[in-house]
Parts: sequence; C-alpha cells; structure tokens
Amino acid sequence: MTVSEADRNSCSVHLSEDGRSVVILDQTKLPNRQEWLSLYRIDELCAAIKSLAVRGAPAIGIFAGYAVYVLAVRKETEDPDALRAYLEAEGETLSRARPTAVNLSWAVSRMLRALRDNPGADVSRIRSLLREEALAIHDEDIRMCTRISEYGLSLVKPGDGILTHCNAGPLATSKYGTAIGPVLLGKERGIDLKVFSDETRPLLQGARLTSYELQRAGVDVTLICDNMASIVMKNGWVQACFVGCDRIAANGDFANKIGTSGVAILARHYGIPFYTLGPTSTIDMNCPTGDDIRIEQRDPEEIKTMWYREPMALPEVKCYNPAFDVTDHELVTAIVTDRGIVYPPFDVNLQKLFA
Ligand code: MRU
Repeated sequence: MTVSEADRNSCSVHLSEDGRSVVILDQTKLPNRQEWLSLYRIDELCAAIKSLAVRGAPAIGIFAGYAVYVLAVRKETEDPDALRAYLEAEGETLSRARPTAVNLSWAVSRMLRALRDNPGADVSRIRSLLREEALAIHDEDIRMCTRISEYGLSLVKPGDGILTHCNAGPLATSKYGTAIGPVLLGKERGIDLKVFSDETRPLLQGARLTSYELQRAGVDVTLICDNMASIVMKNGWVQACFVGCDRIAANGDFANKIGTSGVAILARHYGIPFYTLGPTSTIDMNCPTGDDIRIEQRDPEEIKTMWYREPMALPEVKCYNPAFDVTDHELVTAIVTDRGIVYPPFDVNLQKLFA
C-alpha cells in the first residue's frame, strides 16, 4: 500500500508544510471545537502529550517521531556532536511525558537509533535521516491500521453489536484506527455494525471522541455510561468487544484505558468474545507481564471538578486516579495485530509473531 502526503496530512498528527512544526488536532477541544495546534518547543510538545491534546498510543508514537525531527530542524548549530547530544537529552524528556503507552518511548528510541546508526553524518544529513524515519513511522502506522482493520472485520458479521471503551479510532492513530478500524472499514464496504461506546470516565474519550468519529462517519453508535456495559451485554446487544491497547506484555496481559479490565470481566461473564486490537509497535516483548507495566497516575481534579459547573467532592476528599488498568491475558479471546490474529497461548504465539 502506497502512502501519499495527502494520507498523512489527513491524520490528526502530521508535519507542517514547511517541516518546522508538528501539527495536531487538539483532542481536548473535541467535539465542540476543531482547533489545530502547531508545536515545536520541547515544553509545548511535552505539554501536548501530558494534557492529552495528542493521545492514543499510536498517535503519540507518530507525534514523537515528528517531534524529534522538528527539534533537530529548529536547533541552531552546525556541530553534529552538539546536535546529537541535544537530541538524546530532549528525546529522554519526551519519553518521560507519559509512561504507560510504549509507542512513545518506542518511537523516540527508533529516532535516536537512526542517529546512532549513522555516526559520521553531518547536521544536514542527520536532519534528512530523521525526517525519513519520522515519515516511515507514520506511513507504517497507516499500513498497520489498515491491516488490523481487515483482520478485525473478519471476526464479525453484518449487524453485530460491538462494545468499545475509550477511543481507538482515527484520532488516536492514523487512517481507520485500531479497535474502531473494522467498523469504519466495514462501513466503507457496506457492512454495517452497531457500536456501543462507553463514555470512559474520567476524561470521556468515548463520549467526546469515539461517538463523534462514528456519528460523523454515519455509523450506528450508541453512547452509554461505563456502568451500563453490563446491561447492554445482558440484553444480547453485544456480539464482540473491541478495545485498543497502550502496551501488550509478552504474556498477553495488556494496559489500556482505566475500565477496560472491567469490560473484559463482564464479557467473560456473558460469554462474549473480547479482543484487543493494536499494532506490533504496542507489543513490548521486554515487558514480561502486566505487573511490569508502569501505570500513569493523574490529577484528582479530573474526577472531582473537571467536567462540572461546581466541584462534585469536597476539596479534601482523597482520590485515586490511575489512567490505565491491566487486563489479564486469560480474559482475552485474541490479540488482533497488523501481522495477524494471535490466539492463546499468548506467551508462545506472540514470540512467533516476532520470529
Ligand atoms: O489516556 P489516553 O486517552 O491516551 O488512553 C488511550 C487508550 O487507552 C487507547 O485505547 C489506546 O491508546 C489505544 S489507541 C489506538
């Protein structure tokens, strides 16, 4: 599949026309306003990741690739060693912006590897190598999402109900998305699926982003509160659960938006297949199990005040606000990747994927 500049520029993350900024659609403003941001300073690049202006594991990876390139272009130096040292340090800062989604550190490492693999390159060569690498990360994601969507579509039949959690559509990735990919690809082919979108407390990615993307694409989408997943399953309206992932461990445990593991437990109770869909860049074979995944803790104000006209708890009330949880591999029917559908035993079959 050939990827064009138009394909890249239609994504929520891309490189500016002059190649000196990363352009993102600010996901914190959706669905009410479509605001595009042009970023190039390290503080604003990190702030965009932390605030979730750019979010979704693959989109953060694409963003990180472009961010390293833009930092290289903007650095005023003709000394390749000074540029290398600067990028190593800023890459480290970028990688730390969010800990759970492996795509962030994966993309930064990949950019820095391009640098290290070419020790003799001068400043202009370093910049062109980094540009090629950043574009390659983006193009690969477009291809991977397309393949994941094809594989995912093979798991369902017309009219099926799909329950999803958080947002793993085009905004979070490129092209069709991962968990939402089969639905959008199906729509293009005249295969209609019905989607139940968990609103996804506390940051409402399901309400603000998934229902927005699907409604605009003409998909039959129903928004539900997270605590309604059980009743829609019991009603027989859900034939499969499709969710994204931020890091898949070598044994098949995976981290995704907080609440995902509850969906998996419910799906097991009601005998509904539960799939996570993600690119191979989200599989971390250096991470043995879900216990080894670091979970990001976020500001309690996201729970107490953020969406309300008035605070919904006393200021002194303690809050626990983990951004992700880990779903045990025993609850996962299959992992849908760009290289195929992986079934249990995951520790063996994920290894085979990389053999
Ligand atoms: O905190 P977020 O909104 O970045 O969390 C995102 C998710 O949990 C997504 O499901 C995941 O990144 C996969 S996106 C294809």
